[in-house]
Amino acid sequence: MDVAPAPGPVARRPLAGARDVVRAFNNLVEAWPEDVYREPVVAGRLLGRPVTYVVDPECIRTLLVDEADKLVRDDAMTRALAPILGTGLLTSDGPAWRTQRRAAAPAFRPDRVAASIPAIADAARATLRRWEEAPRQGVVDLQSEMMRTAFDIVVGTMLGGDAGLDPARFGRALDGYLKHTNWKIAYGVLGAPAWLPHPGSARAAKASRDLRGMAARVVAGRRDRRDGCDVLGALLSAVAPDTGLPLSDRELVDNLLTFVVAGHETTALVLAWTLRLIAEHPGVQRRMLDEIAGVPSPVDDPGAVDRLVFCRQVVCEAMRLYPPAALLVRRAAVDLKVGGLRIPAGGSLHIPIYALHRHRRLWNDPETFDPDRFAPDRQRLRHRFAFLPFGGGPRVCIGMGMAITECLVILAGLLPRFGFGPLEGAPLPRAHLRVTLRPIGGMPVRVEARRAQPRVGG
Ligand code: HEM
Repeated sequence: MDVAPAPGPVARRPLAGARDVVRAFNNLVEAWPEDVYREPVVAGRLLGRPVTYVVDPECIRTLLVDEADKLVRDDAMTRALAPILGTGLLTSDGPAWRTQRRAAAPAFRPDRVAASIPAIADAARATLRRWEEAPRQGVVDLQSEMMRTAFDIVVGTMLGGDAGLDPARFGRALDGYLKHTNWKIAYGVLGAPAWLPHPGSARAAKASRDLRGMAARVVAGRRDRRDGCDVLGALLSAVAPDTGLPLSDRELVDNLLTFVVAGHETTALVLAWTLRLIAEHPGVQRRMLDEIAGVPSPVDDPGAVDRLVFCRQVVCEAMRLYPPAALLVRRAAVDLKVGGLRIPAGGSLHIPIYALHRHRRLWNDPETFDPDRFAPDRQRLRHRFAFLPFGGGPRVCIGMGMAITECLVILAGLLPRFGFGPLEGAPLPRAHLRVTLRPIGGMPVRVEARRAQPRVGG
């Protein structure tokens, strides 16, 4: 049984050396002290600065829920993303955040999510077409394929199928920007001025100009079409609850890019890791396939998504092992106590989700892929804050329902048509944290067309 740890002693770590600094630049996950996988709260250092790692579910709940208004976004993270996301929902705090959160909430209501299912299914069909054109025993790179699929979903569900946006160009610019964010985060942690050049800073600046230019053109093109049938439409018709005013052009661009950035790569990574994991586990694939065959197409009946119980468990287990948002960072706005440790105002709090999901005291065999740990009866025994792929408290992911629906509709579209297997001798890729948790060196798998499967409702 997976049980919650009792908050125990705080483990202290010595000052980081030069090697830790270099490791931190390359991969923040590998720079974490080993204790984050064993202890509830760990006092450590990152790039020489004190950091408190919080890995106890009850301490995390207290921070994210009860003390949410005593925490602010970490300036190093915000600074790294602000050139593209401005002061949108993800990168703002206080009243600016509250206004935007309330304005955006209607775009993510369950009925809106259900209405987006046909556009998601279109993206699955486009993926199938790409694979069908490949040789029967094809090899595909799941990372780039799922990025493409998720981008098609973004265009279909957020931009009403806006053809003015070139997915390849947008994807290149986004990648070009995110590649360099670790430098920006490190500079932020070290307190270096934002203008200080770093390797690739000119390319990152150009990428951010490109992204904002593309988003501004999309917003301008839709200004006169204030329909509310997609996320951009909902944002265009949103009014700030306190002032009654619509969002400004800058707020619209900030939030459009926020939703695209926050929703595109995260979902793509979950899909890619899910398919890569089930490629190793034919029995799990079979169970998913049987379940999918037993429900109608979600396009015909959106309620079918809720009946894909085992498929959802598989997605959860993939997010446990490879949470796209592998680290949440906050700064204490006032003096705080966490697990008996005093955090002075301004102190840095890191919630290493990747380590929480593999914590020795929370999970049996944490490294093993076992979707049954998310069976409803086992899940009930677990602390709600032991599994946090979408964060928690008032700043919980606004797109959570949309993301799960996207994953299930795409899996229900792909699995009946293709089987997935590992390439001979190819281990699971290692992951590194580049704002999101990405596989190192892509994610090739073997895809094999299946014979047509009958499905409930045809
Ligand atoms: C599987 C896919 C996704 C994962 C794992 C994920 C994860 C997260 C996490 C962990 C947070 C909280 C960050 C924090 O507390 O610092 C967050 C926030 C957010 N997510 Fe997601 N997300 C996903 C999909 C989406 C989608 C599809 C959208 C929008 C279309 C979206 C939009 C956002 C936004 C705007 C925020 C900021 C919310 C706020 O601060 O009020 N996410 N996400």
